[in-house]
Amino acid sequence: MRTQVGIVGAGPAGLLLGHLLHRAGIETVVLEVRPRAHVEARIRAGLLEQGTVDVLTATGLGDRLHREGLVHEGIELRFDGEGHRIDLAGLTGKRVTIYGQQEVVKDLIAARLAAGAPLLFEAEGLAAQDLDTERPRLTFRQDGREQVLDCDILAGCDGFHGICRDAIPAGLLRTYERIYPFAWLGILAAAPPASHELIYARHERGFALATMRSNSLARHYLQCRPEEDLAAWSDDRIWAELHARMAGRDGASPIKEGPILQRGVTAMRSFVVEPMRQGRLFLAGDAAHIVPPTGAKGMNLAVADVVVLARAIEAWHRGRGMALLDAYSSTALRRIWKAQRFSWWMTSLLHRFDGGDPFEHKVQLAELDYICRSAAGALTLAENYVGLPLEAAP
Ligand code: FAD
Ligand code: DHB
Repeated sequence: MRTQVGIVGAGPAGLLLGHLLHRAGIETVVLEVRPRAHVEARIRAGLLEQGTVDVLTATGLGDRLHREGLVHEGIELRFDGEGHRIDLAGLTGKRVTIYGQQEVVKDLIAARLAAGAPLLFEAEGLAAQDLDTERPRLTFRQDGREQVLDCDILAGCDGFHGICRDAIPAGLLRTYERIYPFAWLGILAAAPPASHELIYARHERGFALATMRSNSLARHYLQCRPEEDLAAWSDDRIWAELHARMAGRDGASPIKEGPILQRGVTAMRSFVVEPMRQGRLFLAGDAAHIVPPTGAKGMNLAVADVVVLARAIEAWHRGRGMALLDAYSSTALRRIWKAQRFSWWMTSLLHRFDGGDPFEHKVQLAELDYICRSAAGALTLAENYVGLPLEAAP
């Protein structure tokens, strides 16, 4: 099999890259190890930055997003039993949109199939080879048969556990990593959201986040231990913990209960590899970096990467040489590190650190108070939260 750009992984990064390149008249093949039903049902991120919404809208993917997405102009920070609203729109002129990652994935799959562009499910990338030549290739297995995809360019959009990053000799990659001493227990419940906007709560018992997927589907997260045993969390215990962490001074909780439809524990880490490229292999999204979920940057970063990568591939395709591709890694990393910084900072600001000394605890509260009372403090949070501008290519 032969194509111009071989894309490994049909998550947001791989599918959007395929979509942008298809619109630019560039041939692609997207390979995904999982079945279609699996990737369309995987509940993960849910908050789109304004820039992500703009990219999807400008490339014909805005219909359902604008119909069903919930546009938010602010968030609430809760600590010491009091809520403080950060007016995102007033401070930045930008908004964020709640629209599940799996909905973005469904829209991208539908667009690709409607365009008749190749998208192979249950096709497992096995090895990326000949990266330093003009004909990189991917061996993959589908229906028990091994095949080879010859390309001009390979895009590793295969997530944190994919194979593409490992195809780069370890000595050529620099890894930066931080593993946090806590995780998130997430639930999806058939209940109305706690509020019309998101609530991020810092509490002595640990962090809690009340978000949503629709006006009748609540999504909540609780800080827990990384090795937390879900079996130890009955529905009653989950609700009691959410009420306790979200309660105001008067003891009233905004959380509304309903049947819990899904639950899971997500580990938290910061991770970056540099460079995001070896020869003709380019990494994008979680294949190259992971952020802790506080601040919702994961999927938005994947989108920002592929916008830069698609532009660079298009320039190369139009005969303008490799300059933008050569700059891809450093261009993308400028934004990635700012999102890493923000995600680390939001995580440090809002979580309980066991064994943290009382001084750090007081500084954490002072910083929250500063953000809520200072226009400069609020603006710093707001402009990062709604998303920094997509990096212009040099
Ligand atoms: P992925 O979505 O991981 O896509 C990679 C794709 O490659 C997958 O479909 C995978 O099946 C496929 N693949 C892997 N290996 C191969 C192979 N060998 N051959 C072919 N295909 C392969 N972010 C937030 O902002 N907020 C959240 O609440 C949040 N929750 C999350 C919960 C979980 C459990 C996880 C794992 C992530 C969460 N994230 C969250 C992060 C966010 O979902 C990711 O940043 C986003 O999915 C990145 O998109 P991606 O396309 O780079 O990678
Ligand atoms: C969601 C997840 C986040 O990590 C976040 O900061 C905001 C929203 C969500 O799943 O809706």
